[in-house]
Amino acid sequence: MTDLHDIVAEALAAFAGIEDADELERVKARYLGKSGRLTESLKGLGKLTPEARRDAGARINAAKEAIEAALAERREAIALARLEAKLAEESLDVTLPGRRRGRGAIHPVVRTWQRVEAIFRSIGFDVADGPEIETDWYNFTALNNPENHPARSMQDTFYIEDKDSTGLNLLLRTHTSPMQVRYACQHTPPIKVIAPGRTYRVDSDATHSPMFHQVEGLWIDEHISFADLKGVHTDFLRRFFESDDLQVRFRPSFFPFTEPSAEIDMMFPSGPNKGKWLEISGSGQVHPKVVRNFGLDPERYIGFAFGCGLERLTMLRYGIGDLRLFFDGDLRFLRQFA
Ligand code: DAH
Repeated sequence: MTDLHDIVAEALAAFAGIEDADELERVKARYLGKSGRLTESLKGLGKLTPEARRDAGARINAAKEAIEAALAERREAIALARLEAKLAEESLDVTLPGRRRGRGAIHPVVRTWQRVEAIFRSIGFDVADGPEIETDWYNFTALNNPENHPARSMQDTFYIEDKDSTGLNLLLRTHTSPMQVRYACQHTPPIKVIAPGRTYRVDSDATHSPMFHQVEGLWIDEHISFADLKGVHTDFLRRFFESDDLQVRFRPSFFPFTEPSAEIDMMFPSGPNKGKWLEISGSGQVHPKVVRNFGLDPERYIGFAFGCGLERLTMLRYGIGDLRLFFDGDLRFLRQFA
C-alpha cells in the first residue's frame, strides 16, 4: 500500500497551487474519484486480516478526511478570492448622484386647453369630447352646409374612403362645431357646454397646421342673447389673459350655422399687441335650422355658439410668432413652458 502520508502530502501540495474552481475539482478526482489514489488503497483492504483491515481502514479514513478538509478550505479560498476580485472590479461610488429619467411637461397648447376648461367649468359649462373622425352629416350637413354648397370649400378637409355603418361619408372633422349637434341631441336645455379638441384641414403655413385645436362653445336656453355671448366671451378672455382691461368687439361675419354671425375681436390694453384688434373667435346666434337639427323647437329655444383656436390663444398669451413651433417637438422651445 502506498504510504498514505505521501498521498495526503501530495494532495495538499497539489490543491495549494490551484486558483480555479473547476481545476480544483479535476485534481480532487485524482485522489478521491472512482479510480483515485485513495480509492485504490481501499481496494487492498480485502486481502488483510480483520485486525489489520480495521487499522488500515481507520488510517485511510483519516487520510480521506484530511484531503477533504484541505479541499473544502481551498474551495472557500477560491470563492473568496473571486468575490473580492468582482467587488474590486465593480466598485461603485455611492456618493454619485443617481441617474434620473427626464421629467415630462405639459405641452403649451394642452396647458391652454386645461385653462380654458377650468374657466368655463367655473361658470357652469359642461365639457364634452367627441370623435375626430366625423360623418359629413355632423361636420357639414347638420350645421346647415347643404351638400355641394360652396360654403363647404371654406373648409377643405381630409376625406376617408370608407363610409360609416349607415352609409355616411367619413372625414377628419374640420372644426369642433359638430359637437354642438352631438351634444345637443343627447341633452335637454339648458345646454351649456364647451367641446375642446383636435381638428384637421388641408392647410399649412406659419399660422395654419393640418392638425390644430379648437374649442367650441354652446349655450341654448329660452332667452339666451348676444348680450350673454358678449358677457361670457369677454369674461373668458379677461380671465384667460389675466387682464381686466382687455377690450372685446363684435364684427359682422358669415357662418352657415349662425344667424347673425360675428367675429369676436379683442384688444390688449398693453404689451406688444397693444391697440391692435385681434381676431379670436367665430360666433353667432345658432341658426334655427341647426336648432331643429338639435331636435329642438327654434321658436322656443335660442342661444349662441362660438369657436376659438387654442393655438391662437396660446400664441397670443406667450408671444409666439410661428404656429409650427408647437408641433416640431423641439425641446429648446418646449422646455420654456415646463
Ligand atoms: N367652426 C368655425 C370655424 O372653424 C368657427 C365657428 C364660427 C364656430 C361660428 C361657431 C360659430 O360655433 O358660431 O371656422
